[in-house]
Amino acid sequence: MSPAHIVGWGKYVPEQVLTNADLAQRIDTSHEWIIARTGVSERRIAAEGETTSSMAIQASWAALAEAGASPAELDLIIVATATPDYIFPATACLVQDALGATHAAAFDLSAGCTGFVYALGVAADMISAKDRPGSTGAALVIGAETLSRITDWTDRATCVLFGDGAGAVVLRRDESEGGVLSTVLGADGSGGDLLSMPAGGSAEPCSHRTVSERRHFIRMRGREVFRFAARAMPEATQRALEQADLTVGDLALLIPHQANERILDAAARALNLPTELVYSNVARYGNTSAASIPIALCEAVEEGLVQRDDVIVCVGFGAGLTWGATAVRWSVPLPGRPPSPWRTLRYRLLQAYAMARSFALRALRYIFSRGLGE
Ligand code: COA
Repeated sequence: MSPAHIVGWGKYVPEQVLTNADLAQRIDTSHEWIIARTGVSERRIAAEGETTSSMAIQASWAALAEAGASPAELDLIIVATATPDYIFPATACLVQDALGATHAAAFDLSAGCTGFVYALGVAADMISAKDRPGSTGAALVIGAETLSRITDWTDRATCVLFGDGAGAVVLRRDESEGGVLSTVLGADGSGGDLLSMPAGGSAEPCSHRTVSERRHFIRMRGREVFRFAARAMPEATQRALEQADLTVGDLALLIPHQANERILDAAARALNLPTELVYSNVARYGNTSAASIPIALCEAVEEGLVQRDDVIVCVGFGAGLTWGATAVRWSVPLPGRPPSPWRTLRYRLLQAYAMARSFALRALRYIFSRGLGE
């Protein structure tokens, strides 16, 4: 086994900003209440036509460009999401097609807001195994969500929390020291009803009743989720560090799921970590579920808060219930390569190629199916 290293990172957030003041005009709430209870000041909302896959694709191109990787190198694409474009096909397959990732296996992973940590652990293990035939040892791991489409905008207890966006990392197998050191994952399905979308699956298929009873939206028992999160995040962090033979004292930065500032503060207190070592951008984006950790990681790197050889832990909790943490020793020099006209041109050409390839495949399939019909 050789370690998997994070060699590229990228994010995409929609342009449209929804502030607390905007929400206070629609529902019975206030900026003061939302800030005091959650720390969220504003969130991004996908425009009409933007989808989980379209945001995932943007974040992916950014991550590939940062890694200097081409889509054809990828072995594997995992999209962690609770808001896929469709129940099937997988959003990861839409991303695979849009990137022209001709050699990649592609699947979605559902683990609520812990999805990105789960996906990172699965991908790191898959590409670390050197003896997989045909493996190039590169994977794209994405967290992407369009939560605004499953948010009940009449429910003030939940709608103030969530936002849309996507983040992605490129993982590459490499003999050098560092990279993903350990991953701890857990689940407790007995708490599944604390945070769920009741209808739309095979248990409660879409019907007039499910729509009129608003069962296609997020339902949450906030206080219980809060209590679970405040316990699960520090425990998972400790265990991931222990598995890597490290302690909290070795931690340069904790990158937690951005659910709520009070939960981040509780985790910092439980771990005895100064709050400066707990990354937070929850004020700007709210809770973007599986996208929150990769967006936060990307911004922490861009802000110069992560340096080569630093130990970071990404830790999440969410629907399922699920929790997970992964310890990473950052192994690429920072800042990354500055953008150059050649790099921009290379990725424009790769994008044009991927679009042309997808169009040609669809056209051929259409022509072939018409031909068979005659
Ligand atoms: N604006 C104003 N008042 C609100 C409100 C809002 N947006 N939402 C709820 N309230 C009211 C409630 O109606 C309640 O009023 P009441 O006392 O008159 O009944 C009061 O505020 C307290 O509600 P409560 O739900 O007990 O508040 P809370 O302190 O638990 O905060 C959350 C609510 C959702 C912010 C908090 O429970 C939380 O963050 N939970 C974790 C959620 C989470 O992270 N989910 C994602 C997991 S991935």
